[in-house]
Amino acid sequence: MAALSEPLRFLLFFFLLCDSPVYAGKCHKGDKKVLLSIKNSIGDYIFTGWTSDFACCDWSGVGCDEVSNRVTALDVGQTNTTFSLPAAVSDLPFLTSLSFHKNPGLVGPIPAAIGTMVGLTFLRLDWNSLSGPHPPTLTPSIRNRLTGPLPPGIFSNTSGAYLRLSHNGLSGEVPPSYGAVEFLQVDLSRNRFTGDASFLFGRGKGTQQIDLSRNVFEFDLGKVEFPEAELIALDLNHNKIYGSIPKQIAEVENLQLFNVSYNRLCGEIPTGGRLDRFDQYCYLHNKCLCGAPLPPCK
Ligand SMILES: *[C@@H]1O[C@H](CO)[C@@H](O)[C@H](O)[C@H]1NC(C)=O
Ligand SMILES: *[C@@H]1O[C@H](CO)[C@@H](O)[C@H](O)[C@H]1NC(C)=O
Ligand SMILES: *[C@@H]1O[C@H](CO)[C@@H](O)[C@H](O)[C@H]1NC(C)=O
Repeated sequence: MAALSEPLRFLLFFFLLCDSPVYAGKCHKGDKKVLLSIKNSIGDYIFTGWTSDFACCDWSGVGCDEVSNRVTALDVGQTNTTFSLPAAVSDLPFLTSLSFHKNPGLVGPIPAAIGTMVGLTFLRLDWNSLSGPHPPTLTPSIRNRLTGPLPPGIFSNTSGAYLRLSHNGLSGEVPPSYGAVEFLQVDLSRNRFTGDASFLFGRGKGTQQIDLSRNVFEFDLGKVEFPEAELIALDLNHNKIYGSIPKQIAEVENLQLFNVSYNRLCGEIPTGGRLDRFDQYCYLHNKCLCGAPLPPCK
């Protein structure tokens, strides 16, 4: 070493650093391997920049922790190939944010392995062609082992979670375990979800936006308690939701969007608070809702 000139010594040091067994530049080798397997399984042109010429933390759609250089965010969108959601995403142990947005060729179910990603707080899989929980051709024995469209384990230890799954073909029920999650935003609109979703609500929760519109949800709205301090937007239009509209909705201080049209609701529409700003189109096509802004109750 003593014989080397100062600049050369620096270069050698830099070379050794870059070529260490764990980090190749700003990139964890294990994470890089997982990302390359995701690239290969999708095979879309958007991954052409994912080569060893760049550290994987600099690849488009990849985000890393600045200190540890571990991959924390993955964002894949605007692809034009046909593929299924790679279960390998669950092999990125530090991932907190996962987004596959606007991939018309993204088909099939959400892999159960996503339910093992305990650190995930942001899951955005909207405007794809996801379906599930299972293709209709599967035998009943296989069907019994599949739990539903959404892996139950996800978000288990999370507050402030984002879940955006709108504009897919997802069917089946939402896992009741999601009732324990503090979602900031839930958008399940324009799918074919069925059954109960009342557990997503709760008076003390910090949820700001709940959009369940255009599904086949079926539950008693009369028993629901709304997050009073935080809720800004509630869209339930086009479902099979029954019961009455709870009077407590008038206590929600910051409500800016409220739409329960095209359901099976009945009874008098509550008044007061922010409710007076919503017109008849927010209530139309129910079983027997009455009172302003609809015609008076008999
Ligand atoms: C996908 O997009 C790329 C880049 O715009 C284009 O070269 C390719 O023809 C497209 N493939 C299909 C199937 O549309
Ligand atoms: C959830 O948090 C608790 C307490 O911090 C911890 O003991 C538990 O292992 C966590 N569960 C998961 C699935 O990470
Ligand atoms: C409520 O939903 C109905 C049905 O989709 C729609 O026609 C109406 O414009 C919506 N109103 C508001 C204020 O969102």
